[in-house]
Amino acid sequence: MHLKSKDLLSIEQLSAEEIVMILDSAKTMKKVLTQPTKKTSHLQGKSVVNLFFENSTRTRLSFEMAAKYMGAASVNISSSGSSINKGETLLDTAVTIDMMSTDFLIMRHRESGAAEFLAKRVSASVINAGDGMHEHPTQALLDVFTMRDKLGHLDKLKVAIIGDCLHSRVFRSNLLALTKLGSEVWVSGPASLMPLDVKQTGAHYTRHVEEAIEGADVVMSLRIQLERMKCGLFPSVNEYFRYYGLDDNKIKLAKENALVMHPGPANRGVEINSALYESDQSVISEQVTNGVAIRMAILYLLNLRRNAL
Ligand code: CP
Repeated sequence: MHLKSKDLLSIEQLSAEEIVMILDSAKTMKKVLTQPTKKTSHLQGKSVVNLFFENSTRTRLSFEMAAKYMGAASVNISSSGSSINKGETLLDTAVTIDMMSTDFLIMRHRESGAAEFLAKRVSASVINAGDGMHEHPTQALLDVFTMRDKLGHLDKLKVAIIGDCLHSRVFRSNLLALTKLGSEVWVSGPASLMPLDVKQTGAHYTRHVEEAIEGADVVMSLRIQLERMKCGLFPSVNEYFRYYGLDDNKIKLAKENALVMHPGPANRGVEINSALYESDQSVISEQVTNGVAIRMAILYLLNLRRNAL
């Protein structure tokens, strides 16, 4: 029982069976997080390097904690503190890390395809912690884990994803994961924040946010990614919230007790109001906890794959 590839680069590469294997393993790992001593020896003697070229709180910290809970040596490097700032290439940096007997290289990078580029050139297992506008596979895995954990299944769910889909690797990875697992994804947001090919992605696109949310089992709001916009793509924050921000009125259209999700970090009062963020329907905090369990499961399963070679 292990993953087919040495690396975890995308949801696209995973079969439905592999996704379920990760979710099942994360269920076991989550039990470790509730024990007084959060310790396993699955990664004893292994090394994990977090190489982040974009800001992160949840992903970087949860990978670091996951590795430490499993007994690995875990270190963080950011571009500002590395020799990249002296002109070293990404590849030379990665090979340098690889030559220190690194087992796992976890990378976030602004360029789509950066993780895949390195995976072919290093012997460490590369895990994509978000590459440009491409994919954020571990986020989607923790999201579908949270849905399954709360709703009991992932079959024929209606999942509404609202907001900046154009720049969102979370949208792309969730769409792939949910459709592979038999659920339906509806999307809505400003036309300027939708991929041009949104109707060909397999998602149901509607200009009317109410139609996307109507009868949904899950409503996920996405962060507006100002850092990826070259110019203003919506008129004003107030107007954005009025039409697309999640609040009590919009969520009433979804199923009773529908889950409210956000990958974080959220802009309160823009993508979602504070009352809903903190409501009983919100599982945003649980998404964070589940992120540690999912990352433990991925490290565990990739390590089995490495040991099997
Ligand atoms: N969701 C997510 O990737 O959060 P961070 O940017 O804090 O890692």
